[in-house]
Amino acid sequence: MNNIFLSFFLALHVFCFAQEIQESALKEAAGFPVGSSIRFVPFMQDKELSHLQKHHFDSYTAGSDMKMYQIAPRENAYQWARVDSIVDYTKANNQRLFGHTLIWHSATPTWVVKKAKKNPEWLDTFMKTYIQKYVGRYKGIVDGWDVVNEGFNTRGSGYRKESIWYATMGEEYIEKAFRYAHEADPDAVLFYNDFNIERDTLKFNSMMKMVEDFQRRDVPISGIGFQMHIRMDIPNEVIAYTLQRAADTGLQIHLSEVDVIFNTHDDSKGGGIQLYNKLTDEMRLAQAKKYADLVQMYQEIVPKKQQYGITFWGFNDRDTWINRFFKLRDWPCIYDEELNPKPAFYGFLNALTVD
Ligand code: XIL
Repeated sequence: MNNIFLSFFLALHVFCFAQEIQESALKEAAGFPVGSSIRFVPFMQDKELSHLQKHHFDSYTAGSDMKMYQIAPRENAYQWARVDSIVDYTKANNQRLFGHTLIWHSATPTWVVKKAKKNPEWLDTFMKTYIQKYVGRYKGIVDGWDVVNEGFNTRGSGYRKESIWYATMGEEYIEKAFRYAHEADPDAVLFYNDFNIERDTLKFNSMMKMVEDFQRRDVPISGIGFQMHIRMDIPNEVIAYTLQRAADTGLQIHLSEVDVIFNTHDDSKGGGIQLYNKLTDEMRLAQAKKYADLVQMYQEIVPKKQQYGITFWGFNDRDTWINRFFKLRDWPCIYDEELNPKPAFYGFLNALTVD
């Protein structure tokens, strides 16, 4: 009998100990919301991961659960169940829910592309209905949205012309998406979100031209999202320059999908180029410095009232999208493959200042 009790108490002790996280919570150390993207289904079954998520983050972005192909997989079939569960989770844990993303060429379901090609007029009507149903349903619940994601070319200047949205509706599709979203929830924070804008100044300039034009004409944009999928060798000076110019618009600035890779890729699926096969201590420390630099730049350059927050695109090297998507073996996150904090975590944490 005694033995049973002993084992029970031991088990309880191990359980409680495992539940204790030694590291300070990022959300408490930061003067702005800190978030991570999460894939809801595996996440809900992963106690350790959800424990860490609750401990560190006060903002939640769905990895893919809120994309168009999930919400509207077939014509007239809206699937809200998973988003409703995410809403319950974020409410129960006092987390801000961020909506990623309303209009993105890459998440547009095939049935929409096919129908738009046959009947171009229909696409605008569909966009309006989709955005208004979606944003309207979560009015006052989803705090902000990536209204349009990746509307500019991967490299260099100009719109992404091969996107079905651009090809069918012209550049006006972006402005329309913002207007529809604003009509559905006038209080939602509405972002234009893109990648490589922190390093490719031609791309950045194209985006800024659009943003400044929107501001002049009162198109209801409220923020710029820098995805910030960076590489160790992206110069801080360039990041600081683009952040400064973006902050000068007075809009909210979200570092919306942060990760820091060592290897490289050509921006396409499967396009990874493996330069490093092993993560050394030296690399760990260099990455910690890069994460610290990023936080410092964000805090110094972006005025407090414009700091919408920093969101990691998955926060551990086990689950990172980088390895699956680019077919790489990299270590881009602040937690490692065993869910232990890396020097990158402490680099980020120690660079946080509350004021
Ligand atoms: C990625 C997801 O993390 C992957 O699981 C999915 O296969 C592809 O999309 N920019 C974005 C995100 O805006 O939505 C992408 O997320 C990563 C790049």
